[in-house]
Amino acid sequence: MPTMDISGYAEDFTENPYPHYAQLREAGPVHRITLEDGSEVWLVVGHEVARQALTDPALSKDWQKSGYFLDVTASAVNNHMLESDPPRHTRLRRLVAREFTGRRVEALRPRVQQITDELLDAMEADGARGADLIATLAFPLPMTVICELLGVPDLDREPFRRWSNEIVAPSSMASSSWALAEMAAYLGQLIDDKRDRPGEDLMSALIRTRDEDGDRLSDEELVGMAFLLLVAGHETTVNLIANGVRALFDHPDQLAALRADWGLLDGAVEEMLRYDGPVENTTFRYAAQETVIGGVRIPAGDALLVSLAGADRDPGRFPEPDTFDIRRAPQGHLAFGHGIHFCLGAPLARLEGRIALRSLLERFPALARDPQAAPPEWIVGTLIRGVKQLPVRW
Ligand code: HEM
Repeated sequence: MPTMDISGYAEDFTENPYPHYAQLREAGPVHRITLEDGSEVWLVVGHEVARQALTDPALSKDWQKSGYFLDVTASAVNNHMLESDPPRHTRLRRLVAREFTGRRVEALRPRVQQITDELLDAMEADGARGADLIATLAFPLPMTVICELLGVPDLDREPFRRWSNEIVAPSSMASSSWALAEMAAYLGQLIDDKRDRPGEDLMSALIRTRDEDGDRLSDEELVGMAFLLLVAGHETTVNLIANGVRALFDHPDQLAALRADWGLLDGAVEEMLRYDGPVENTTFRYAAQETVIGGVRIPAGDALLVSLAGADRDPGRFPEPDTFDIRRAPQGHLAFGHGIHFCLGAPLARLEGRIALRSLLERFPALARDPQAAPPEWIVGTLIRGVKQLPVRW
C-alpha cells in the first residue's frame, strides 16, 4: 500500500483537513501515512471501521507493547489510564469514575454557571467591547472548574498552560520532552504540598485512597492522574467552546435559530462536537499482536491513529456530513472516542459547553468575529483541532 504524506503540520491541512480526510475515505477506511517527524503510522478514517478499531483488544494503549520506545512516551506523566490496558486501566479509571458521572457533574452546575458569569462580567467591565474569547472565557472556564474539582485552585496557570500546550501540540521533540519534565516536577511538588495540607477534594482523596486490594496509587500514578485530568480537562473543552462559536459565526442562520430557541442548545453542542470537534485524531494505539482493521493487515508493533474528524464526516453515517445543522440528530458521533477509553469527562464537557455558549450568546446579543483580526493561528499536530486566539466584538 502506498504511503501518503498528510502531515498535520502542512498549512492547508491544518486549516481545513476535512477535504483531505474525505479524499482518503473515498479510497478506503485505513491508510498508511507519514507524520511530521517522518514516522509512518496507520490512519483510520471511516466511521464503522473507527468503532471497530477503538474496540479491538489487539490494539493496545500501552506504549511498552509497541515498537516505539520514545523518551517522550516514557515520561512519568504518561503513567495514566489513557496509556494503560486492562486490568491496570480498569483499576485507575474506577478510582475516579464516580466523580464524573452525570449526577455528580450536574451538582456542579451552579458553580460552573457562577464561574461563567464572573468571566462574562469581567469581559463586559473591561469596556473595550471586544476580546480574545479564548483568553477571556474558553480557557479560564474549564481550567478553573477542573482545578477546583481536583483541589488545586492556586495552580500556576501560565507556566502550566505553556507546558500543556507544548505536550498536546509539540513544536519539536526537544521542547515536548522539556515540557513533560517541567510538568512532572511541578505536579510532583503540587502533590507533596497536598499531602502536607489535605482537603476535601479529589486530589486529597486520591492520595488517601486504597483500592480494593489495599494498594495505594504510587507517586508516579498520582502524577499521571493529575496530569491527565488537568490536561484532558481543559485542552479539549477550550476548543469545544471556540470551535463551536466559530461554527456559529460561519453559519448565521444556525446562530439565529439557536438564539430564537434555546431548546436547540443540547443538539447544537452535539453537532459542534461532530462537525468540528476538539480531538481531530485519537492518541496512538499499538498493535500488541497482528490484527486486521477494515480488511487491512496491521503488523504487531505498528502504531495507529483513528481520525475522529474523518469518522464524524463519513457520509455513510451522517447524511450531508459537511453541513453544520444544529437540528440534526448526530447520534453516535465519535468526538469523545469509543470503547473503554471513551472520554471520562464527557458529562462535564457537555455541561461546560452548554453553559458557556448559552451564557455568552445571551450576554452579548451582537457577538461577532472581530473584523480587524488577523487570520487565525491554528494549533498544529495530529491531536487537537482549534485556533490559538479568537478575537470577537460585541
Ligand atoms: C469537549 C471536550 C472533550 C473532548 C472532545 C474529549 C475527548 C476525548 C477523547 C476523544 C478521548 C479518548 C482518546 C483516545 O481514545 O485516544 C478522551 C479520553 C479522556 N478524557 Fe476527554 N474530552 C473532553 C473533555 C474532557 C474533560 C472535561 C475531562 C475531565 C476530566 C476529560 C477527561 C478524559 C479522560 C480521563 C480520558 C481517558 C479515559 C480513559 O482512558 O479511560 N475529557 N477524551
